[in-house]
Amino acid sequence: MLEVRNLSVRYGKHLALDDVSVTVNTGEMVAILGANGAGKSSLLNAIGRRVQAASGTLLYRGQELSQLPQHLLVASGIALVPEGRGIFPRLSVEENLTLGSLPARDKRNTGQRRELVHAIFPKLAERRHQIAGTMSGGEQQMVAIGRALMSDPDLLLLDEPSLGLAPIVTQEVFAALARIRGNGLTIMLVEQNARATLALADRAYLLEAGRVTGSGTASDLRNDPAVVNAFLGGSAA
Ligand SMILES: Nc1ncnc2c1ncn2[C@@H]1O[C@H](COP(=O)(O)OP(=O)(O)OP(=O)(O)O)[C@@H](O)[C@H]1O
Ligand SMILES: [Mg+2]
Repeated sequence: MLEVRNLSVRYGKHLALDDVSVTVNTGEMVAILGANGAGKSSLLNAIGRRVQAASGTLLYRGQELSQLPQHLLVASGIALVPEGRGIFPRLSVEENLTLGSLPARDKRNTGQRRELVHAIFPKLAERRHQIAGTMSGGEQQMVAIGRALMSDPDLLLLDEPSLGLAPIVTQEVFAALARIRGNGLTIMLVEQNARATLALADRAYLLEAGRVTGSGTASDLRNDPAVVNAFLGGSAA
């Protein structure tokens, strides 16, 4: 579904991504694991066309993404939940969801999409009239993901959904991601929380200082001593 080939991203003299290649197959949940500054957001933002690639190729369903005008990205089935969530804090939960449906390809099924979002995040149904900015961090992450789902994506890109969340809330958000994948979506997420991510993803890539330094199935990576030491705090997963 998505093929990133030899991608480099540069900010002035700083090479944030160096020859990165990543593949995401239809129906998979693929994680990119990396520490602060590894280049995780740069990778997602390059795919989401928020950041210009210095070189490399981005293919979505075989189509070169750079040929696609940025405003058609969502209509082509890609939704990005950016770092920091990007919700509308002064609007209600319901209004945030409604705004998410505006770029959808097929607006006739907005009611159904909303029901699906409410099924995945029952809290968003209970709190539909709450002002989004007054919600907890975990709830705001749910609003952000719910809003992205309202655009009816095939590929969901998530930038550190666990950022700033307590472990129990991370579990809640990740359980929702499992339900989303169960609905047939393809998911690519970037994360620092290797333990929670490898418990859920199908495959992962390890990103260090802008380069892919490893990849494999989540279960292989969980049992790889080098990964355990570098990404799982040295204790067995
Ligand atoms: N707009 C920018 N201008 C200059 N340098 C940038 C810019 N955005 C990112 N960088 C640099 O590129 C590198 C990779 O940043 P990026 O945000 O992709 O990392 P990250 O893995 O998402 O980190 P974090 O976990 O902290 O979100 C960092 O060294 C960062 O300082
Ligand atoms: Mg980041």
